[in-house]
Amino acid sequence: MKRNILVTGANRGIGLEIVKQLVNEGHQVIATARDIEKLKSKTTSLKGNLLHFSLDVTDPASVALLKNSLTDTLPFIDVLINNAGIISSNQGPMASDMKEVRALISTNLLGPWRLSQALLPLLEASQDARIVNISSGMGAWDDLTASHAAYRMSKVSLNALTVMMASELEGRVTVNSMCPGWVKTDMGGPNAQQSVEQGADTAVWLSTREHIPTGKFFRDRKEIPW
Ligand SMILES: NC(=O)c1ccc[n+]([C@@H]2O[C@H](COP(=O)([O-])OP(=O)(O)OC[C@H]3O[C@@H](n4cnc5c(N)ncnc54)[C@H](OP(=O)(O)O)[C@@H]3O)[C@@H](O)[C@H]2O)c1
Repeated sequence: MKRNILVTGANRGIGLEIVKQLVNEGHQVIATARDIEKLKSKTTSLKGNLLHFSLDVTDPASVALLKNSLTDTLPFIDVLINNAGIISSNQGPMASDMKEVRALISTNLLGPWRLSQALLPLLEASQDARIVNISSGMGAWDDLTASHAAYRMSKVSLNALTVMMASELEGRVTVNSMCPGWVKTDMGGPNAQQSVEQGADTAVWLSTREHIPTGKFFRDRKEIPW
């Protein structure tokens, strides 16, 4: 079934690859990024149903503008993929710079939160609405260590948001978190084990397979512990 699927942070890395796979599967993809010209240049070779919108997930005005533009363009959105994210320095909680902590929380937690709120009416107009939050194993409660404290905190919190939204939206919108693995992107670096194709796979699967549970955490198409 063809779906309307919105992806944040779509101009590079895992987000761009998710867009490629979804367009190739015939879905209507709404690709968003801070730099729309860069986004367009990265996706010119794609043949399919692709819309481009500018979006900075940390900026409430940018989110409001996107919401209004989408409301004028599409009757509904089936899937919101909250992919945009940043990583922090390798500091533990005691040495973390609070300015950096705020930036991480603003992008990785408040971004998905704000966008989910804004797009809820468009999602609820779908027969099978879904939110896919791209989290990380570094935000898994059982695996917490001191390194990259700001990043880990943002992803643990994103996982908590997933559980809370899944509970509030039960029967209306399915909400899941997923870890893409350690992926060769600007963030993951050249030594990462997974290709972008592998990193995008579970997000595409959660967005398009027929029946999915809600309020769960996935990696490699399998449920993993929080
Ligand atoms: N790579 C890994 O090994 C790995 C592992 C676990 C989880 N993840 C998660 O997977 C997601 C994608 O990571 P990636 O590896 O593809 O990272 P990446 O290559 O660094 O790409 C990050 C994307 O997020 C966008 N972005 C950052 N801040 C934004 C903002 N305020 N508004 C809109 N877009 C913004 C970037 O846009 P600009 O080009 O404008 O900066 C870029 O498109 C992230 O949530 C990350 O935490 C990655």
